[in-house]
Amino acid sequence: MTFLIHTYGCQMNVRDTEAVTALLVAAGHTPVALEAEADAIIVNSCSVRGKAEDKAIGKLRQLAAGKRKHPGRIVGAMGCMSQRLGPELFKLVPRLDFAAGTRSERHMPRLVAAAAAGAGRQLALGTVDDPEVPHLHQPGSMSAYVTVLLGCNRRCSYCIVPDVRGPEYSRPPSEILDEARALIAAGTSEITLLGQSVLNYGRTRDVWQGAPPSAGGYREPFPRLLEAVSALPGLRRLRFTSGHPSGCTEQLARAMRELPCVCAHLHLPVQSGSDRILGLMRRGYKAEDYVAAVARLRAAVPDCAITSDTIVGFPTETEADFEATRALMARVGFDNTFIFKYSPRPGTPAAEMADDVPAEVKEHRNRVLLEDQDRIGLALNEAWVGRVAEVLTEGPSLRNAARWAGRSSQNKIVIFAPRPGMAVNDLARVRVTRAKPQTLYGKLVEQGA
Ligand code: 5AD
Ligand code: SF4
Repeated sequence: MTFLIHTYGCQMNVRDTEAVTALLVAAGHTPVALEAEADAIIVNSCSVRGKAEDKAIGKLRQLAAGKRKHPGRIVGAMGCMSQRLGPELFKLVPRLDFAAGTRSERHMPRLVAAAAAGAGRQLALGTVDDPEVPHLHQPGSMSAYVTVLLGCNRRCSYCIVPDVRGPEYSRPPSEILDEARALIAAGTSEITLLGQSVLNYGRTRDVWQGAPPSAGGYREPFPRLLEAVSALPGLRRLRFTSGHPSGCTEQLARAMRELPCVCAHLHLPVQSGSDRILGLMRRGYKAEDYVAAVARLRAAVPDCAITSDTIVGFPTETEADFEATRALMARVGFDNTFIFKYSPRPGTPAAEMADDVPAEVKEHRNRVLLEDQDRIGLALNEAWVGRVAEVLTEGPSLRNAARWAGRSSQNKIVIFAPRPGMAVNDLARVRVTRAKPQTLYGKLVEQGA
């Protein structure tokens, strides 16, 4: 059969889609790019905000309605929303063939086969603490995600993730290293280590038991993992996401400075700049702690880019709370911020509070922060003009095929005129000549290794 997976949500979902794709390929199925060519269409869904769920349900309904035109088409759901809604999903999308929750990826070939055999509605809701998830890859991609930490134990009051992705499970380092080695052997040069709160790696399970001491003297489990992965021959870049201030220790800062392929970027969501709101969110830090965490990283890696997520309109957020967020954003100077309007998620502690910030106030605060961020991001990017960025080339730019695009260590998109015969996956040195809030433009200096 041919199949297509639509992916909503975060990098974890992108990773799960890739693993399921590899599983279905191993079962003899063929991935296609167009819906019209697909016998089976699967929606990998997100649950993080109401809007994300509305989008996934809308898509599933549209696909199910398309069965009239495409008889025999199979429509399935997987991911966080399936996990949250379970059997309910069949009420919302009556013609859905199957739904699989998180950590149930290994059942997908069976679900597709059962649907094809006309077995009727299928539901696979694994327990969310099942560590047995497939970590398969589609070979040959230049940049790959490797999951190191499943689930999340943090329980921020607004967040559905612990419910849908279960408790933390840190994978054994040997497994992670084997996976990274195989990726590198198949042509990958950039690896991003994934975890909802990735710096918590090894904090709830002693993963380094019995291993020889770290060569660099790292005692904390995550910096040790960075050291081990960055030592793999052939790896050019190592990234990790997402961070939490409690993990921004001196050892992490030193690892980011000393380890050769670790990139100068951390996604470190702050969520709010108001201590009162941070308390209600149960984030476990105050604004000053966050600022100190960023200062530790920047003291070790002065060029380190910091990006963030911010929620506007959390219950009881006042104008003064919002101004505290603006002030913190200005003080830290984020390279980029993703701004979200608060959305109550059923079953979370924050959903017990009234969602009392009016929609138009959320909208207004959202707009103000976007404008602030554009200004701040532009100023930070303009500081790159005249400097040389090291760029891992990705190929012709989408907007202008005569130009090439790549990313700097700071994860900024850099556009430049390629040299003749330039290859994808080269390390190029580009002198920046112009900056926009999200993009740098420049001229090639010399070809890297
Ligand atoms: N409402 C709005 N935004 C949310 N996020 C997580 N839960 C919610 C919610 N209930 C945001 C956070 C998180 C990002 C992935 O989504 O900012 O970092
Ligand atoms: Fe990712 Fe959270 Fe959305 Fe799940 S609910 S896809 S973990 S952002």
